[in-house]
Parts: sequence; structure tokens; C-alpha cells
Amino acid sequence: MTKLRELSGKNVLVTGGAGFIGSHLVDRLLAEGAAHVAVIDNMFLGSEENLLVAQTTGKLSFYKDDAEFASSLDYIFNRHTIDIVFNCATKALNYSFLNPANAFGTNVTVALNLLELQRRGAFKSLCHFSTSEVYGSAVYEPMDEKHPRNPTTTYAAGKAAADLAVESYVHMFGLDGFIVRPFNNYGPRQNHKGLLAGVIPITAWRILNNGMPEIHGDGQQSRDFIHVRDTVDAVVKLFRVLPAGESVNISTDNQVTIGDLVKRIAAILGYQGEIFRKPARAADVLCHYASNQKLHSLIDYSLTDFDTGLCETLDWYAQRLRPAP
Ligand SMILES: NC(=O)c1ccc[n+]([C@@H]2O[C@H](COP(=O)([O-])OP(=O)(O)OC[C@H]3O[C@@H](n4cnc5c(N)ncnc54)[C@H](O)[C@@H]3O)[C@@H](O)[C@H]2O)c1
Repeated sequence: MTKLRELSGKNVLVTGGAGFIGSHLVDRLLAEGAAHVAVIDNMFLGSEENLLVAQTTGKLSFYKDDAEFASSLDYIFNRHTIDIVFNCATKALNYSFLNPANAFGTNVTVALNLLELQRRGAFKSLCHFSTSEVYGSAVYEPMDEKHPRNPTTTYAAGKAAADLAVESYVHMFGLDGFIVRPFNNYGPRQNHKGLLAGVIPITAWRILNNGMPEIHGDGQQSRDFIHVRDTVDAVVKLFRVLPAGESVNISTDNQVTIGDLVKRIAAILGYQGEIFRKPARAADVLCHYASNQKLHSLIDYSLTDFDTGLCETLDWYAQRLRPAP
């Protein structure tokens, strides 16, 4: 496939770049030879610790600011020449159960702010992060990129609206924008705190802090887990080749039920106690089985074996979350 875009020597902005996927992406962009990376993150869930490796390159500018304010983005664009934007900013899915309108609004507003800047020529290429959540529960499996978008949360509805915004701006104004759609990511740096934590870090945290791991419902809901390193590998490779206006799933063929996952984490961490059963969450998607046919037709990307990646991830959390003796 013809190379459409180049990262080496470019100036990049990553929204939400102090978060889980964004910070791994920042590290990879710098390793790929990006001249400079600016990050805007309001620290809703991000952490400056996630950017420590990137800081050592001297090629990172970090802005603790809100990409929902057009003026904050203007400030950054006035200070830096930006060629490329990766839009990772979001508020976690679980937040939409607490503050539905705000979770929706962030996903839409940040995308629109960026698209308006791009329409006025402020930067050339936009890689927008969507989510498998936009598909809702599977109408058919595996879910390919043509699967209907049936969001079941306001988080996913905001993401679906942002996807439509990217697609329509590309269509109307000929912008160079495309959409990557990761399935469930895991790996180091994913938030483990409070109600917004992902299932792997929160389960690890509970076990490491003498708590009881939890499963919502019967635990039969399944997800396609991909290591964050593999997602980032796919994103930088897709960046080079994916035509404007297109979207592509980023996934493995690794279906794991949440019940099985929690048991595997317990086994790896040597936990032999009980698992607490909680009622099923309304709007929890039952199954996310992705088609990655399109992805494979476009690129070769790295795929970490799930058990290896899970052990490595739990080791990372164990080093940080075990209480001091
Ligand atoms: N983690 C996953 O499993 C997964 C799966 C599919 C898609 N995605 C998508 O990938 C992207 C990154 O997700 P993540 O898992 O790294 O989430 P994350 O919460 O770790 O990172 C998002 C970052 O955005 C920041 N943020 C929130 N609102 C902001 C605002 N108004 N302005 C600036 N920054 C803001 C947060 O502080 C956080 O650091 C998101 O778009 C998400 O929808 C993630």
C-alpha cells in the first residue's frame, strides 16, 4: 500500500496524552522520530508520571489544560507549528454513569474544536480515537467496520457523534482525517483508582490491597483485550497508510470473559479468597468480538500473547500498588 503520511520530523499534538494510551503513543511517536510532541491534558485521569520517559527526550511540551476550550488549543497552536494531531482525550466510560452529559460533551466538543482548527488550516492530519463501544452489543459477529453504531452509554454516543463529525468534515472539506477504533486495551499506566478504573487494574489493586475482587453479573460478558503497546504499534502503522475518511478496528482475536479474566488475575497474583458478585450493570455490552480483517489487510502489527501481557502488566502494578510492609 502506498505511504500517505510520514511521522519522522513532524510536530505532533496529542490530546489526552498524559493518559493510558496517549502516553504510550507519545513515547512511540518520539521513538519514530517526531521532531516535537505537545500534549494537552486536563488531568481528569492523566498523570504526569506517565510522561516521565518522554520528558527525558527534551522534545515534549506538556500543557495541563482543557481541549474543550478552543482558546486553550489556540494558545498551543500559537506557540507551536503542529502538523499532526492524535485525539485521545476522553473521560472514562464509567464516568458516563455518573455525569452522562459531561462524558458525552467532552467526546464531541474536543473533536469539533480540532476539526474547526483543521478546517482553517491549522494542521494537516488528524488521527481520531474512536472506541468499540460505539457498536454496542453485537448485531452480528465478528463486528467489522460496517457494523451499525448502536451506542448504549452517553460515553459511546459522544464517541459515535465524534466519529460522524470527523467523517462529515472530511467529506465536506476534504480534510485529512481518519479514525482508529481500538477494542479493550490493557497494560501498564491504565488508571487503577476509584470508580473510573479499568477491570484489570482495579482487580489487581483490590487483591494487592487485601480486598475482594468483583464481578458484575454472571461474568459471561466478553471483551477483546489488546495490549496497549500493540494498539500503539497499529496506530503508527495505520497513520502511514489509512486513507482519509476511513475507520479501522484495532483488536486481536482474543475473546476473554470478565469472569475468566478475574479468575486469571487472582491465580497470577496468588489470591485464593472469594470473588464478590455484584448485580449486572445496565448498559453493559455483552460481547465485543471484533473483525480485524481490514486491519490485517492494511498492516502487520505486533500481537502480544495475552497471558504474557497480563503477567507483565500485573507485575508492573504489583511493583507500584502493593502496600509498604
Ligand atoms: N482504554 C481502552 O480500552 C480504549 C478502548 C477503545 C478506545 N479507547 C480510546 O482511546 C483514547 C484514549 O483512552 P485511554 O484509555 O488512554 O483513556 P485515559 O482516560 O487514560 O486517557 C484520556 C485522557 O484524556 C484526558 N482528558 C479528558 N478530558 C480532557 C479534556 N477536556 N482536555 C484534555 N484532556 C482531557 C484525561 O485526563 C486522560 O488523561 C480515548 O479516546 C478512548 O476513547 C480506549
